[in-house]
Amino acid sequence: MTSAVENGTGQGFSFAGKKVWITGHRGMLGSALVRSFESEGAELLLCSRQELDLSSQRDVNDWVQANKPDLVFHAGAKVGGIYANSVAPADFLYANLMIECNVIHAAYQNGVKKLVFVASNCTYPTVAPQPISEESLMTGKLDANIRSYAVSKIAGIELCMAYRKQYGCEFVSVIPPNLYGPGDNYHPEHSHVVAGIMRRAHEAKLNGAKEFIVWGDGTPRREILHVDDLAAAMKYVMCTPTSHDLFNVGYGKDFSISELATHIAGVVGFEGRIQYDTSKPNGTMGKLLDSSRIRQTGWSPVIDEVTGLKSAYADFLNRSKQSGTAGRF
Ligand SMILES: NC(=O)c1ccc[n+]([C@@H]2O[C@H](COP(=O)([O-])OP(=O)(O)OC[C@H]3O[C@@H](n4cnc5c(N)ncnc54)[C@H](OP(=O)(O)O)[C@@H]3O)[C@@H](O)[C@H]2O)c1
Repeated sequence: MTSAVENGTGQGFSFAGKKVWITGHRGMLGSALVRSFESEGAELLLCSRQELDLSSQRDVNDWVQANKPDLVFHAGAKVGGIYANSVAPADFLYANLMIECNVIHAAYQNGVKKLVFVASNCTYPTVAPQPISEESLMTGKLDANIRSYAVSKIAGIELCMAYRKQYGCEFVSVIPPNLYGPGDNYHPEHSHVVAGIMRRAHEAKLNGAKEFIVWGDGTPRREILHVDDLAAAMKYVMCTPTSHDLFNVGYGKDFSISELATHIAGVVGFEGRIQYDTSKPNGTMGKLLDSSRIRQTGWSPVIDEVTGLKSAYADFLNRSKQSGTAGRF
């Protein structure tokens, strides 16, 4: 994969010798960030949830005070798909608000030099001019299926903006579209679009089924981004001085759910029919991000959807062999 440095990172910046805290380092994005730091010479600060519960204000304060990170990639969050969000909105809202307040405030109090926070494209209104630019934030109604999670992510963006405005902190937010790639969550109730379809296509193939089911009518369009591209973009933002406090980080192209399902079925090798369950919600009809702001600074994604989906499926097969189960996996 192309590293952040090869992808045009701000000249003269080096991670070498810096203390870099990656929250949520066992998750899909966090582990992509960890992978990308293999040869940077940075001192990575990594804590599992068992070692540090990010929702505990006292524990986060004590830990940040003791460890004094220079830079923070904030990828830790309670994450789930539409189903999980629709049945447990309070849990998503509470956990993410607590985590964001704790990490961002502790970063301010302990003189962290720069923090990059990951939000989500669900922060944008359901009706927004496409492609959706950063200017659309807080201009309309949110998708009701995922509103609590979206509000928590908007709060995270606003926290970064407010600490920048009041205290001059270099805190920047990025908004990616749906992520996919190694380390994804394939749980039937917690997965996002690519992982959910991949799992169903794979199981249909294994069971010799004639069809597999996809939620909704297949017409909504979704932009997807390989997680290694987002990790590279976050490092790029970390390295590059900017007056912006928010960047969309997209692939630049979207696909209908039915196109995605067809691509995924092809990668998995499922040759049957794809059926659409129209009793399930479609979600927002279109979500293509306008990523011109970050592209103008010199970053662009390098992993196309075919290469990316193949790498995701290879990881899926590898992990299913190792675990022999279908948990988070
Ligand atoms: N996946 C997507 O499609 C997508 C799209 C847009 C934005 N994002 C954003 O990208 C970020 C990373 O997402 P992801 O897909 O990598 O999620 P993920 O795989 O679920 O990883 C999240 C990580 O956060 C950790 N975590 C959650 N609550 C914690 C707590 N209280 N204390 C300590 N650690 C905690 C989890 O720990 P455990 O391993 O112990 O659970 C996990 O390692 C999130 O902010 C998410 O909102 C994701």
